[in-house]
Amino acid sequence: MKLLMALTGSLFVLFVLMHMYGNLKVFAGQEAFDSYAHHLRTLGEPILPYSGFLWIFRIVLVLSVIGHAYSAFYLWSKAHNARSTRYAVRAAGAAAWRTQTMRWGGVALIAFLTWHLMHFTTNKINVNSAVSDATIGDSPYQLVVASFQVWWITVFYLAALVAVGLHLQHGVWSAVQTLGWAGTPGARRISQLLGNAVALVVSIGFALPPLFIMFGFVK
Ligand code: HEM
Repeated sequence: MKLLMALTGSLFVLFVLMHMYGNLKVFAGQEAFDSYAHHLRTLGEPILPYSGFLWIFRIVLVLSVIGHAYSAFYLWSKAHNARSTRYAVRAAGAAAWRTQTMRWGGVALIAFLTWHLMHFTTNKINVNSAVSDATIGDSPYQLVVASFQVWWITVFYLAALVAVGLHLQHGVWSAVQTLGWAGTPGARRISQLLGNAVALVVSIGFALPPLFIMFGFVK
């Protein structure tokens, strides 16, 4: 179960890095951003139909989310049921905080993702009353810019990115060890550094477009 969690988690790390890279195209302007979104749909053509690659990727992601959550709940309930009586001394301090942030942070991330998919993918919700639906049209760039001009949307996404960062920090650290790199204190230190680095790169990389849009540097 830990292996399933580590492998599906590694796939999410690859996905968020790719997604973050795509989002940074906001700085290259509307055409670069929108044509990136368009190319994601024509990838693999003509062997695959339009959006074929994207759909394969979506199915793999959904199965991975199910596998990741299932293994989390399995390990969670196993830890809970392992003893009929409670430990006199429970995990305290840093260990308890990590367990709680992984569990509740994971649940919060699922909630964020539900909103996020409705916001940008399925319903394409325009939350900015100062921008007309006609202006947004079918441009992902316009939808992103209009959204993050609304300060509370930006604050909400920044809060979600804190949850993403904390989850990645511990998740990467844990996955590296599950995948076999735990033998020495040096290896553990490197896995910790890797967790910190991935968490920082991803949360800062994702935070830049909303911040630049909210402060009016990207229009
Ligand atoms: C400020 C941060 C973020 C922004 C501005 C953003 C923006 C977007 C946009 C514009 C889309 C639609 C892409 C399209 O239809 O071409 C999208 C889709 C998506 N985003 Fe994000 N995103 C952010 C953070 C995240 C994070 C942290 C995650 C994961 C934890 C995530 C997961 C997804 C997923 C799964 C999709 C659906 C991809 C698909 O199947 O089409 N996003 N995002």
